[in-house]
Amino acid sequence: MEVRKAVLPVAGWGTRFLPATKAMPKEMFPVIDKPVIQFIVEECLEAGIDNIIFVTGRHKRPIEHHFDINTDLEKHLEQCGKTTLLKNIMEISRLVNPIYIRQKEQLGLGHAVLVAEPTVGYEPFIVCLGDVIVKDEDNVLSKMMEVYRRFGKSVIAVFEVEEKEVSKYGIVDCRHIEKDIYIIDDLVEKPKPEEAPSRLAIVGRYLFTPKIFDKLKVTPPGKGGEIQLTDAVKLLLEEEAVYAIKINSRVYDTGTPMGYLQTMIEFALQREDLREGLIRYMRSLMIEPTGV
Ligand code: UTP
Repeated sequence: MEVRKAVLPVAGWGTRFLPATKAMPKEMFPVIDKPVIQFIVEECLEAGIDNIIFVTGRHKRPIEHHFDINTDLEKHLEQCGKTTLLKNIMEISRLVNPIYIRQKEQLGLGHAVLVAEPTVGYEPFIVCLGDVIVKDEDNVLSKMMEVYRRFGKSVIAVFEVEEKEVSKYGIVDCRHIEKDIYIIDDLVEKPKPEEAPSRLAIVGRYLFTPKIFDKLKVTPPGKGGEIQLTDAVKLLLEEEAVYAIKINSRVYDTGTPMGYLQTMIEFALQREDLREGLIRYMRSLMIEPTGV
């Protein structure tokens, strides 16, 4: 069965970014002038997936507004003759036919995925974390779908991290089967470097068979009382194979102040209109005492 749907969980509290996230979803934070969530929606569209299911919460309305048509703004831009901006704004609102579903209580990522079950149905689907941007020459989701087509089982994207970094991620214990493809034996959440089974970290892009829903339903609350997606994957491993695909992408975790800052700087350095000015400014900060 073809993969047609993507679930984007965006209901989390974003506590690592408070007070900024008190009224504004972290998924709407701008990377220069485009919100994080739009990068993720565009990644899905590039892979041919336009059935996008957002799992939202009561404090996440700006996401719905962003993908909706704003006729007043369109009229205003038209009257001012700002045609490029108008085109851009019109495109965003017509990108996807979104489905919004509420996670009434923030009971964890696993729970957020389970909330999407009625809209996904019994078919394979993708999960993209709402605060992780993946940048690759090739589309990672397309690569994952290719692996799914071959093996018919769940696929998790992983990337190689430095040994000292493993304790920040979910790490896979896996066996190499062919170039960039592995079969997973186990998952370890944030291991100490000396205890890590590999340096392959989970990115935040998953492709699941619908069996994951059965597992999520029986996954007991784990760390912080939340239903962890990795715990459900561990249960899934007892019943069917789960593959990992190693990607060579840049992975930007925008959910922490440092990760967000790094994302902003790297994206600005890649923009022709900002690169030179930013480099000049950063050099001046490093050379001249600023008094801060
Ligand atoms: P995170 O763990 O990064 O998000 O989940 P969080 O819980 O909002 O962050 P902190 O730890 O409080 O700072 C990754 C993605 O899963 C969503 C988040 O919105 C984020 O996009 N999520 C998380 C949910 O949709 N529901 C949840 O209960 C938890």
